[in-house]
Amino acid sequence: MVYGAYGFTGELVVREAIAQGRRPILAGRNEASLKPLADKFELPLRPFDVGDAAEHLDGVGTLINCAGPFASTAEPLIAACLQRGLHYFDVTGEISIFQAAHKQHEAALKTGVILCPGVGFDIVPTDCLAALLKQALPDATHLELAFDFGTLPSMGTTRTAIQSIGDGCLIRENGVLKSVRLGYSTIKVPFASADLWAVSLPWGDVFTSHVSTRIPNAIVYGALPHAVCWLVRLSNPLRGFLARPGVQKKLVALAGRFLGDGPDESKRISARTGFWGRVTTGDGRECSGTITGPSVYAMTAELAVAIALKAESWEQDGGYFTASMLVGADFLSNREGYKVEVQRVSEDTGAVRQSDPLH
Ligand SMILES: NC(=O)c1ccc[n+]([C@@H]2O[C@H](COP(=O)([O-])OP(=O)(O)OC[C@H]3O[C@@H](n4cnc5c(N)ncnc54)[C@H](OP(=O)(O)O)[C@@H]3O)[C@@H](O)[C@H]2O)c1
Repeated sequence: MVYGAYGFTGELVVREAIAQGRRPILAGRNEASLKPLADKFELPLRPFDVGDAAEHLDGVGTLINCAGPFASTAEPLIAACLQRGLHYFDVTGEISIFQAAHKQHEAALKTGVILCPGVGFDIVPTDCLAALLKQALPDATHLELAFDFGTLPSMGTTRTAIQSIGDGCLIRENGVLKSVRLGYSTIKVPFASADLWAVSLPWGDVFTSHVSTRIPNAIVYGALPHAVCWLVRLSNPLRGFLARPGVQKKLVALAGRFLGDGPDESKRISARTGFWGRVTTGDGRECSGTITGPSVYAMTAELAVAIALKAESWEQDGGYFTASMLVGADFLSNREGYKVEVQRVSEDTGAVRQSDPLH
């Protein structure tokens, strides 16, 4: 079952599942929006609100939740999956969702259910890269990860990002999550394709990389134009104002004027994404790596379906899993459309930390 099937990402996931020879049940809260999709692909539909999910899961083995912001949908759907014994996957990048799913590890273990949020662009490549770097340098104490979107985001992604402005940024320090200001750190990242400026962001890997690697210090960067990195930083005093519901609504409307629904098919085919990671030890050793991959939304649909299909042949214990724990650190290494490179330990990658007058 694909929940949120008529959203931008949901429909891509449905198309990918069909391409993989599956006939997913299309689900979402609005029957009128589900119907044209169900008619087009001749697939069954089940309209329901997330709070009523447990009553609508007969005959379903695996659920892929594409209905975001996931703060409104993930917890009730995870609860329903635990109650009915279904495997749960979603394409969130929201830290609070990873935390909520992680807390259900014992319950998932008892029921033999896989809980694996974040099976898209965020966090599959970065999670696999973090796990590969940990294998290369097992005593690493610090992890940096960065991603380059490579294209404009969809409205759903933008809405989710706007909703989280008020939360500021998070990093991991000595094993615990620490709240820091927006734009806490800015670096120039040597992605495989180019060196790009990037600013620290509170994306899912800040939480999940610790589950996957146990590296106690972590920070995640998103590539943005240099001026925007500074705007993120300078917006700190306005955080409370920007988090007000009325202001959020205006920001979403403003973004909608520029973005449309999301990248069109030509962009989804041609755009490339980039990922970089580096681990370091206290005594100065380091190891870095890069991944390049398909565009954000093509990748998200492809990976979500590929990883969810693993559940069909799953014979081990259930529980909470990050992507790399479920499918292995080298999942992308020989996958068509991806290039994964991990440097030798201690090789200098040349990432430049910007001198930071605001610190
Ligand atoms: N981690 C990643 O790599 C990644 C990649 C792609 C997308 N995403 C995330 O996926 C989410 C969806 O993105 P999108 O581009 O597909 O957005 P979208 O086109 O706006 O679609 C959102 C879908 O979620 C549904 N939805 C929202 N809130 C709901 C609720 N409370 N109950 C039931 N359904 C609800 C919407 O239904 P209605 O139309 O009825 O509101 C719609 O079907 C976003 O949070 C985005 O950040 C993450």
